[in-house]
Amino acid sequence: MSSIPFYAKKFVSGINIEEAFAVVERLNDKKICVTLDLLGENISEKQQAIKFVDEYDILLKKISEKKLDCYVSIKLTMLGLDIDFDFCYNNLSQIMRIADHYNIRVALDMEGSDYTERTIVIYERAAKEFKNIEIVLQAYLVRTEDDVKRILAANGRVRLCKGAYKEPPEKAIKKMSQIVENYKKLIQKLLLEGQRICIASHDDDIIDFCIEFIEKNNIPKDRYEFQMLYGMREKTWSRIREKGHNMTIYVPYGDQWQAYYARRLAERKENVFFVLKNLFKS
Ligand code: FDA
Repeated sequence: MSSIPFYAKKFVSGINIEEAFAVVERLNDKKICVTLDLLGENISEKQQAIKFVDEYDILLKKISEKKLDCYVSIKLTMLGLDIDFDFCYNNLSQIMRIADHYNIRVALDMEGSDYTERTIVIYERAAKEFKNIEIVLQAYLVRTEDDVKRILAANGRVRLCKGAYKEPPEKAIKKMSQIVENYKKLIQKLLLEGQRICIASHDDDIIDFCIEFIEKNNIPKDRYEFQMLYGMREKTWSRIREKGHNMTIYVPYGDQWQAYYARRLAERKENVFFVLKNLFKS
């Protein structure tokens, strides 16, 4: 098995469960929770999806055995959403049964807008059957205001992020100031009406806004948490945790790291310069 190249190690914790667990344990020691993401997406063979289901089953069992403060995140295209809707749902159900057995949360990541409706339909169906499921919504999508109402009507467990995929202007807000404005509008409704809301952003403007809103409205600590991606703004994690808010870090691992890593590069030109500088050094 290969290893993660040096330039991707900033964002990807390792190639296998052992390397990922070392990061989880380090963060748990600091009273920071982790959501582990086994990397993989857009698979085209049923066999690959079945292999990922087996890997998630093992992961959930090990999280439970080790009593880690840790849950999991999953992309539905890794479970066969591109192949067949029911096949994908059945794969998710198998994971959800085990997750519910161990009482471990499962978050459905949100991929490009071609998958939004199907991801929400699968989530709505699963939320009727399983208690530990939550879903990501993206503040840059025009449709998200309506989707918030749907999720609140299902089980009200949402991770709100800005959105990381290249989308056409008829589907997604393009101006960053307007995305932030929409994020703030949506998060207020979610914090007031949701069951468990994950504020997934590294943006100080959004974080400060949420802290003020939470304090002003006395939102109980068990109804929300802040979330960031592994490799970004580490000092801020501890600052938020020390203020008494729950903090979760999204930690990816696995040998299918390329697509995830490309999205992190695309978010910030400084990351591309970092890679180029180090490639030319070596
Ligand atoms: P913004 O991009 O404005 O960043 C604010 C600051 O954070 C920057 O100034 C910089 O300091 C730091 N920063 C941000 N990006 C960085 C980078 N790549 N490298 C280094 N520093 C960086 N998206 C999606 O479409 N579907 C999903 O399922 C998820 N899931 C998800 C889970 C979690 C826990 C998080 C935190 C994020 C996601 N995302 C996601 C990604 C999200 O949509 C978004 O692309 C990134 O979080 C960047 O947006 P920010 O709100 O952090 O602000």
